[in-house]
Amino acid sequence: MTENVHIFDTTLRDGEQSPGASMDEATKVQMALQLDRLGVDVLEAGFPIASQQEYDAVRRVAGAVKRASVAALARALDKDIERAASALEPAVRPTLHTFIATSEIHMEHKLRMSRQQVLDNAGKAVALAKKLVSRVEFSAEDATRSDWDFLAQVTAVAIEAGADVINLPDTVGFTTPDEIREMFRHVIANAPGSDRVIFSTHNHNDLGLAVANALAAVAGGARQIECTVNGIGERAGNTSLEEVVMAMHVRHDTWPFACGVITEEIVPASTALSKLTGLAVPYNKPIVGRNAFAHESGIHQHGMIANRSTYEIMTPESVGRKRSELILGKHSGRAGLAKRCAELGYELSEEEVTQLYERFIALADKKKEVFDDDLRMLVLGVQQESFEVFRLEQVHISGHDPAMALIKLRRGDQQLMDTAVGDGPVDAAFRAVERIVGVSGRLEQFEIRATTPGKEALGEAYVIVTFDGRQYRGNGASTDIIEASVLAFLNAANKHIVYNESQQQASSRRNGAGES
Ligand code: KIV
Ligand code: ZN
Repeated sequence: MTENVHIFDTTLRDGEQSPGASMDEATKVQMALQLDRLGVDVLEAGFPIASQQEYDAVRRVAGAVKRASVAALARALDKDIERAASALEPAVRPTLHTFIATSEIHMEHKLRMSRQQVLDNAGKAVALAKKLVSRVEFSAEDATRSDWDFLAQVTAVAIEAGADVINLPDTVGFTTPDEIREMFRHVIANAPGSDRVIFSTHNHNDLGLAVANALAAVAGGARQIECTVNGIGERAGNTSLEEVVMAMHVRHDTWPFACGVITEEIVPASTALSKLTGLAVPYNKPIVGRNAFAHESGIHQHGMIANRSTYEIMTPESVGRKRSELILGKHSGRAGLAKRCAELGYELSEEEVTQLYERFIALADKKKEVFDDDLRMLVLGVQQESFEVFRLEQVHISGHDPAMALIKLRRGDQQLMDTAVGDGPVDAAFRAVERIVGVSGRLEQFEIRATTPGKEALGEAYVIVTFDGRQYRGNGASTDIIEASVLAFLNAANKHIVYNESQQQASSRRNGAGES
């Protein structure tokens, strides 16, 4: 029987540590559901001790994900482990992931602990985690720069204390394929009880070796790969999920393992992550980059026409990319739109299709051809509807320096309008929005890019805004970039308002309960 390699996705935790990739609760939940559809075995939602917002996000993801195991990270400290366990309470299949560093350099300079202290702490942490949560993963941080015999000792202690998974990370992206394979062989051979656990590999891409190292670790006995969509992560990133998964598919002769990832969901997950975080995918990125299946040279095109396998080692369809970018127009109709969305992997309710159709017609009026990427942006907008407390009705800008913005919003059946002056049209428009919605935020990041080529392209705007100390991501799309920017800002503000209102409701429920 084919052996399984588990896929542990850490897009929402290690991936989120990429500069610019921080995700608010709502974004994490949306991405978590996409990852669940992708078929990952474990989905690491975050590091709950880091902040109240992170705790809330992990808790919400834990409640929303029904299939994959949801993991939360904790240092080998009681307060971290208790917090992570509490955030995981709503999870159907929780995994508590606790770690401590094992390399001399980390033990001496960061932890200021002896080997014995690290062994004691690792054992205590796993034992406490196991008391609180049914499944525990233990990581020996900086394993690849640790003494292998000591690694085997820590591993044995963690197994004895109840760990189900042992992860040996290449925290700084320093190891090589031959070395990591031998490290796994050594630890597995020398740690008593290693046959009772799954060994996991977690690699950083500082030398561009993360995928090669992950696959070599599998050759050495690892049966779980930790990775992220689009390879995002701390510094140069983590192992790319799409690359390891497709390597195991395409070169099954070399890595004869099965994994649960539905490969056709790879491109939808990659696109969703890029749209939700605003982090663009490089055009030449394997599997998911825009050019990954584009054949430019005449010789290649000729070969492809004669027989696709001359220059194609996997089909675009196998990773969820449609061979031709279907172009829809005003006359494509509701049914054509719904069919294309289904082909792109979106499961939309009748009500969502109706909302999408309205937006599609408005866009097709401005822009003759609607591409798949345009559709993906529109679908994201519809899926974010639950946060739409205020809806944008009109943006009008006059003047330049200073600029004046008039904004009309709708909340239920109430129309609200205000004006503001600012340094340029975007600043003026954001100020007017703040005046209407009654919250004001600090703009941390603001990016605009085109969804598709051409002068009439849809402009995508991405913002990160801090309201009352909490960060929110917002995105918006329109053929008018000022309108796209306002939609993005309003999207972030709406999320904050939803959060505030839910907090107020919870507090009045608590007060009500106290009174009775
Ligand atoms: O890179 C690393 O060592 C980590 C651990 C916390 C697993 O991310
Ligand atoms: Zn890491």
